[in-house]
Amino acid sequence: GTNTAPAAEQRDTWTHNTGFILAAIGSAVGLGNIWRFPGVAYESGGGAFLIPYLLALLTAGIPILFLDYAIGHRYRAAAPLAYRRMAKPAETLGWFQIGLSFVIAVYYAAVVAWSLSYFVYAFDLRWGEDTLGFFTGEYLQVGDPEISTTIVSSVAIPLVLVWAAILVVLALGVSRGVQRVNVIFIPLLVVAFLGLVIRALTLPGAADGLDALFTPNWSALLDLNVWISAYAQIFFSLSIAFGIMVTYASFQRRKANMTSSGLVVAFANSSFEILAGIGVFATLGFFAHQQQVAVADLEGLTGPILSFVTFPAVISEMPGGNIFGVVFFAALVLAGFTSLISILLGVAASMQEKFGLGRRTAALAVAVVSASISIALFSTTSGLLALDTVDQFANNVGIVLSAIVMTVVVVWVFRRGEVLRQHLNAVSTFKVGRVWIFLLGLLVPAFLVVMLVQKLITLV
Ligand code: PFF
Repeated sequence: GTNTAPAAEQRDTWTHNTGFILAAIGSAVGLGNIWRFPGVAYESGGGAFLIPYLLALLTAGIPILFLDYAIGHRYRAAAPLAYRRMAKPAETLGWFQIGLSFVIAVYYAAVVAWSLSYFVYAFDLRWGEDTLGFFTGEYLQVGDPEISTTIVSSVAIPLVLVWAAILVVLALGVSRGVQRVNVIFIPLLVVAFLGLVIRALTLPGAADGLDALFTPNWSALLDLNVWISAYAQIFFSLSIAFGIMVTYASFQRRKANMTSSGLVVAFANSSFEILAGIGVFATLGFFAHQQQVAVADLEGLTGPILSFVTFPAVISEMPGGNIFGVVFFAALVLAGFTSLISILLGVAASMQEKFGLGRRTAALAVAVVSASISIALFSTTSGLLALDTVDQFANNVGIVLSAIVMTVVVVWVFRRGEVLRQHLNAVSTFKVGRVWIFLLGLLVPAFLVVMLVQKLITLV
């Protein structure tokens, strides 16, 4: 049948450990780091947010990352089949995670496409004076009832380009496609980003921006929603509990230092994220300085508005702003594209294994279906509205639910904690103690259940 791989199957693998690490960093470092983290941290206690954030990283982020790696590496398949090999009924969980990833991919692709457009617009500051009007009006054409269901070509063209690029990379496969893209893009991204942060820090007002971001509001720590935000940010940012890291780990060679690689990926991701916070807020400090207002009085510090309305306005005011803008939007494209690839590889590999498809057929099927949905949704004017709802549901409720089910199913229902721990320790130099199973089996699910209940109460 299609559920057991033939013994002689040659799995297309990462050709070296650095390839895997760069690809895993590529998946982790994305839009979540650049446009999600700074705003979330700012709204959730500033400097004080770093405490729940780091606790979330250590108590849940790294343990679940290891769990994803252990499942993928031991059972050598994309999420649904890997879970099925662990215990037959668990396959459903794999499909749930892949479904969640798919939902994210549809809107994530739209934001990458917008970034691609803005990369081009940055050369001549095409957005003009009224950046909000440009983004929602001229670019997205929101709120024009006549065209609310017509496809807006300014968005459709970059979307088609993004999906075509995804198709090519997936069709080339893990070693010749995904690894290559990451080996080139990630170093480029790091260089571009360091350049942006250094430039931002030399702008007048930068220090005020950093003050605004890092001044701790300790009372935020008493707010459960702040803790939810910290855990949700860690899950989204590390790409964990989505079935995606299971899939990436399944392409590792049998002898591979899994936990040590995981530590590198987790700390690289958080470093990048904090650096992004510094860069973004230094830039906002400059903006506030130009307008002679306090950073706290600025509007549009989070979400799509930050990148596509506020930043363009800042860029227009900056000496040499077009260079800054070109590099900023290039960084968004690089970071977003490498994350998008990981999601679609997860979906395509799952289809491939389930239906016994060839790699290219699976890539084509997944790219065509998701491209059609994302073009239908996001190149019409309803896209901006859909984005917020989908992000709320998938990133706060969906992913927390996924992490709860995953840890409970593995540790309690099928009791695979010890087997997986030994699997990790057999291949890795960084050894995982029993505390790992305790965290996954008790602390993480208990805490997440409390958070999810609270979240659902506030949502309804
Ligand atoms: N980690 C990515 C980011 O921070 O933007 C987003 C992401 C990628 C989420 C892959 C989930 C996923 F499976």
